[in-house]
Amino acid sequence: MFTTTDFIPKKYTSTIENGNFEWSAPSNIALVKYWGKKDNQIPANPSVSFTLNNCKTITKLGFEKRTSSETNFSFDLLFEGKPKEDFKPKIQKFLERIEVYLPFLKDYHFTIDTQNTFPHSSGIASSASGMAALAMNFMSLEKVLNPEMTDEYFYQKASFLARLGSGSACRSVKGNVVVWGSQANIAGSSDLFGVEFPYTIHENFKNYQDTILLVDKGEKQVSSTVGHDLMHNHPYAERRFAQAHENLDQLITIFESGNLDEFIKVVESEALTLHAMMMTSMPYFILMKPNTLQIINAIWKFRNETQIPVCFTLDAGANVHVLYPENVSEKVLQFIQSELVVFCQNGQYICDHIGDGAMER
Ligand code: DP6
Repeated sequence: MFTTTDFIPKKYTSTIENGNFEWSAPSNIALVKYWGKKDNQIPANPSVSFTLNNCKTITKLGFEKRTSSETNFSFDLLFEGKPKEDFKPKIQKFLERIEVYLPFLKDYHFTIDTQNTFPHSSGIASSASGMAALAMNFMSLEKVLNPEMTDEYFYQKASFLARLGSGSACRSVKGNVVVWGSQANIAGSSDLFGVEFPYTIHENFKNYQDTILLVDKGEKQVSSTVGHDLMHNHPYAERRFAQAHENLDQLITIFESGNLDEFIKVVESEALTLHAMMMTSMPYFILMKPNTLQIINAIWKFRNETQIPVCFTLDAGANVHVLYPENVSEKVLQFIQSELVVFCQNGQYICDHIGDGAMER
């Protein structure tokens, strides 16, 4: 398994003057949540997510060798084809964090041209897919400079870099089910990068569906970064971090058995615990909206009445992810359309499902 120093490259054997790469990377939805971190983007507890398929960022990276050696980074940022100044500080910070691992960054001028497949300001975090897509492109460039690089190194370092951009981004490189954070019972798991869940996954989870109900598309009052920070000196932090380990252990068994009742218990409890942590931090805050609760209650009622194994999870926001197996899609979509769409802003929702991770285009 690679360590941080393995990601600091030795001398490159090749050169390249200019060119471009293009990668897409999907969003992901955590089942066991990452909430709380230590220095250098090390998670306070392990997390696991489904990689999504339709919600993704597509990023083209153009690069051109600069004539003299420079002390600053040089890049242009385009969002949906237009210059986007307000995204630049985040990228600048990302480049600063990853420079030791990619020492060629100041040798080139970059044009980063990025777009999302989901509506902008939909409240769907684009930082996970965005940072993952950018990390993949940088790794493509590094692979040209170091053609001997193995695939394993390529993907693990991509995830390692993505993590430094945004923690959850490290779970958007690989597909299906990804674990990030060291967990005793999961071989190969690491705080440094995401890895594919290495054990049996029951048929029930194949092509699992995630319909994202857009409840509130406004700017969040509290960013994830601030929220993570509030887990320092949080009265329930230690117990919560231990619980994440316990829930992840439970999921190992659940993924193998395909027990959807148990799956639902873990996933919904994780979602509500995440928000409970927000409500019990100092300062405290609430990201759910009245319609978030309306939806949760409607899902519980529907599940009780029909015994259809549909459940919800939440991100750090008001939107609701409705999770269900593929074989009940038709009935759940009918239910969503007839009973849940009224709670969505402008009736908007996005149908997604488990996907394979980042792809070169
Ligand atoms: C609630 O990955 O957005 O979605 O590392 O500060 O960029 P930073 O945070 P971020 O946090 C995501 C938190 C979450 C849970 C999860 O995805 O595990």
